[in-house]
This record gives sequence, structure tokens and C-alpha cells, in this order.
Amino acid sequence: MKFPDWLTYIQQRTETILQTVLPAANVAPTKLHGAMRYAVLNGGKRVRALLAHGAGGFTHARPEQLDRAACAVELIHAYSLIHDDLPCMDDDKLRRGKPAVHVEYDEATALIAGDALQALAFQVLAEFPVSSTTSGQIEVIRLLAQAVGSHGMAGGQAIDIDSAGLEMTREELESMHVRKTGALIRAAVLIGARAGEGGTEDRRRRLDLYAKRIGLLYQVVDDILDAASDTATLGKTAGKDASHGKPTYVSLLGLAEARRFAEELLTEATDALTPLGERADRLRELADFIAHRAS
Ligand code: IPE
Ligand code: IPE
Ligand code: MG
Ligand code: MG
Ligand code: MG
Repeated sequence: MKFPDWLTYIQQRTETILQTVLPAANVAPTKLHGAMRYAVLNGGKRVRALLAHGAGGFTHARPEQLDRAACAVELIHAYSLIHDDLPCMDDDKLRRGKPAVHVEYDEATALIAGDALQALAFQVLAEFPVSSTTSGQIEVIRLLAQAVGSHGMAGGQAIDIDSAGLEMTREELESMHVRKTGALIRAAVLIGARAGEGGTEDRRRRLDLYAKRIGLLYQVVDDILDAASDTATLGKTAGKDASHGKPTYVSLLGLAEARRFAEELLTEATDALTPLGERADRLRELADFIAHRAS
């Protein structure tokens, strides 16, 4: 399958499983369930789902196992976006081209919808295993929990919130981005890969290096797009990092140097895959997609 067709195919598969797993909007508490569905089923590129499928395809995992991995990481991601947009966080009113959850519903509902989506992600992993062994499944759950907790995404968001208006060194900025965005992207790759064959130590190391590089790349490109694109294209408010005084790769390095750094990360990610042959082509295409996406 050509990459654009595969992209649409996986996005549709992901949509179907998310539809099934989310509680129906007419089941009590209806406002909460409506908000959860609104947050998840409102577009989104499904990059984390694509990465889980790409990595699992590489390790010969079954597509049904990967659907569950894809579902769990997208539920977590949707939760993170709801909370990220709250007035106490980035105070954003637009998400995926529509009013943010707290605007469409209310702040309390948005907060609880995020909490419930996080719980649902782990419930999905408990009910529909990604790995065929118990120890493999525990490892999958551990990988996700670690990526999302205080050493991962939540920790990165905490640093982000406290850093508004401050200067950061390059090391500090990288550490924040690796946590707030890189950790979940990395987990999507590792969990997808874990669904299939273990492979050699060298292969695992290379996949992990790829995952880490594209994780950081994801947020570097997000910083670039915030500064260089427009609200209509992004479906979220452009220029908000600068207006909120957020330290980003663009504020630290300037646009041209940030773009150069993104290309460097892309090269490092694809170099890590070089000895892995044609089977890693999907992962190469995904890295290129992440680096050169328009939104
Ligand atoms: C936006 O993520 C927030 C970041 C972590 C950079 P995406 O750009 O993946 O958002 P959607 O899911 O496609 O809307
Ligand atoms: C979001 O980073 C990271 C998350 C964990 C959600 P941003 O705050 O830059 O994401 P956008 O630009 O609002 O999508
Ligand atoms: Mg933010
Ligand atoms: Mg934000
Ligand atoms: Mg951003």
C-alpha cells in the first residue's frame, strides 16, 4: 500500500475502534460521555496510532493487537489536549478547528472528561491485550504509565506551565519537550513494537533511538508551526507560544535554525533505521510525515 492510502486506512481503523470503545453519548452521565466523544472523535491526525501500527507492522504484530495500542495512546493524547487547552494551562479556545472542550461544554466537564479518558486508556489495555503474553502486557501498561506520569507527559506539562516568561537553556528546553510530547510518541512506537516479535537487542535499541528522535522532532515542528503557520491551517490558535511567553525552539534559536534542527532530528531518526532494511519503510515515511506536516 502507498503511504497516503495506508495513512487513511489506519486513520479509519482507529476511528472505528475509538467509536466502539467510547461510552455512547446517551448513556449517563450524558454530558460527560458527550464531552469525551467530542474530544476524541473530532479529527486529529492520529499520528500516535499510525506510529503504533507502523512499529507493530515492523515486528509482525497482528493488526487487531495494534488497534488496541493505537486506541490507548490516542485516548491519552485526547485527554492531554483537553487539559492543555484549559484556562489554567494554555487557555486555548480552538482545537482541531472547533471550540475546545471547556468552551463547548464547561471547565469542570473538560477536566473530568480528561480524567475519564486517561482511565479508559488503561481499561482498554486491561480488557484487550496488546501483547500475547502476560509479562508483555504488563510491560505495555508500564510503558504507557511511565510515559504519561510525572517523569513523562505530566512532568513536561508542569515544567511548561512554570516556564512561561522565563528563559531556558537548550538542555532545559530539550528536557521539557522530550517529556511533554516526546514521551507519549516514544511509547506509541515501543508499545506497537512490543505487540510483535522481540527481535535482537540491537533492533530494540535502534527502534528506541528512532522513537526518541521523532518524539522530540514532533514538538520542535509544533513550535515551528505555531510561529510560522496560521490558525485556519492549524485548527488551533497560531502564534500563542510567543504571546504566552513560552520558551520554544523558535524563541531560543529563531525560525531558520529551528527548521535546521528539525531536519537534523529527522536524519538521526532515519539513520537509526538504516540497518533494519525495507521492513522499516513505514517508519521512515512516518518520520518524514512528522517532519514535513503542515498542521
Ligand atoms: C498537538 O498534537 C499537541 C502536541 C503534543 C504537539 P497533534 O499535532 O498530534 O494533534 P492532533 O491529534 O493531530 O490534533
Ligand atoms: C502540548 O504542547 C503538549 C501536550 C502534552 C498536550 P502544546 O501546548 O504546544 O500543544 P498545542 O500547540 O496546544 O497543540
Ligand atoms: Mg501546552
Ligand atoms: Mg497548548
Ligand atoms: Mg504548540
